[in-house]
Amino acid sequence: KSEKLAFSLSGLLLVIFLGAIVYASLARNIEVPTCITDMEPFATDTLFQTGPNTYELQAVARMWAFQPSTVTLPAGSTVDLYLTSQDIIHGFKIKDHNVNLMAVPGAINYIQVTFDEPGEYFFACHEFCGAAHHTMAGRIIIE
Ligand code: CUA
Repeated sequence: KSEKLAFSLSGLLLVIFLGAIVYASLARNIEVPTCITDMEPFATDTLFQTGPNTYELQAVARMWAFQPSTVTLPAGSTVDLYLTSQDIIHGFKIKDHNVNLMAVPGAINYIQVTFDEPGEYFFACHEFCGAAHHTMAGRIIIE
């Protein structure tokens, strides 16, 4: 009998956790990072405009820098951000913005970000990657 109770309780927990993810992505408008599988791997960074306010940014992480390290875009830009790594696993977090990605060699991670407010948005590697990990940073300038 207690087994049955434990079983239904764990089932209930699962539903709650799943619900939390759905709630986070829908109600709170939190972007969930995605691993891209249908895209050619890239080794160099590229930034190009895809529409009136939309840009595609292909960013590369390697020991110990991001390319590009500085990006300048107009306010209101929506960026399709693709991130990969040339060597080991790095992290990518934009301060004061809801972006947190991993840069994984051989894989491409994707997130869409919109920058409404002008300002400087600093980003940094948040995954320890060796001697100069703390210098792996850059900024996105929105003007
Ligand atoms: Cu790259 Cu820490």
